[in-house]
Amino acid sequence: MNNSTKSQTDSFARDVLEGLSASPKKLSSKYFYDDEGSRLFVEIMKLPEYYLSRSELEIFRDRAAEIYAAFGEFDEPFDLLELGAGDGSKTSLLVAHFLEEGSDFRYIPVDISSEALNYLESKFDDEFPGLEISSIKGDYFQTLETLSARSKRRKIVLFLGSNVGNFSDEQAVKFFRDLRGTLNEGDLLFIGFDLHKNPQTILNAYNDAQGITSRFNLNLLRRINRELGANFNLDEFLHYASYHPIEKTARSFLISQREQTVDIEALNKSFEFGQWEPIFMEISQKYDLETIQSMASSSGYEIVGNFFDSHGFYVDSLWKPTPA
Ligand code: AVJ
Repeated sequence: MNNSTKSQTDSFARDVLEGLSASPKKLSSKYFYDDEGSRLFVEIMKLPEYYLSRSELEIFRDRAAEIYAAFGEFDEPFDLLELGAGDGSKTSLLVAHFLEEGSDFRYIPVDISSEALNYLESKFDDEFPGLEISSIKGDYFQTLETLSARSKRRKIVLFLGSNVGNFSDEQAVKFFRDLRGTLNEGDLLFIGFDLHKNPQTILNAYNDAQGITSRFNLNLLRRINRELGANFNLDEFLHYASYHPIEKTARSFLISQREQTVDIEALNKSFEFGQWEPIFMEISQKYDLETIQSMASSSGYEIVGNFFDSHGFYVDSLWKPTPA
């Protein structure tokens, strides 16, 4: 095990200890994306209930030219950075358009799954021979620190897929503000937000009939078993999703179906679960335009443009830093 893998395991262990010792118990959704979790998320994106990816894909497919125009002038080479790149399916549409227009840029995908990054690199190498790709393995926060040091080129930062939804609004504003600190005048931030809509449509997206979302959640218990030597019995936990239409927050939980004890070797500790006790796994925040507007202004940005899908389910919002 190299040092960075070791320190990643340490912070995973620390977060699991903290989360399962808390009341109510919780685990962080940022740990969903081991290689198996990244594969399951690709399956989620194909689900009939999971409208988010299709909505954003539609925006990128139908409005690439408008988006490109809103990005402004490209006389100088620039960096196209993508936070949480995943399989890059939307970004490839944008990249194709950039290349058609003859712009000179590097693509810098950031992701916590090396398998996802390898896949992305080979896919983009095939699709766009000659495009310079330089991927970064890490989480968003680690990356922010290295970002500003990296290059003096103009930056376009993509934060797509409603990944922001895993943050509370306060965390999101803090993140955008920190990111603002690494940007220069002329840089841009392009963010995908899932909008509020019929609550049933939202709930169904997190409670699919095939049970892929359930497997995606349970995979984190499997990861704890494997990486931290635990003995979670996956059959004893149930996936439960909820959506709160006032808070506009989808939440998911794993519910202990009976009283049980789980031992985690790496923590030298056992955890008691009561019957029907939940572990809080994830929030997926939904937004309205007023909230997006106020998050932009309170974190130091102006909205340059909003791009919607035809159902009004989703928006990609283009922000520029307001001069300090
Ligand atoms: C990748 C965070 C946008 O919250 O919709 C999908 C993750 N979780 N189904 C989301 C997820 C359950 C997804 N994000």
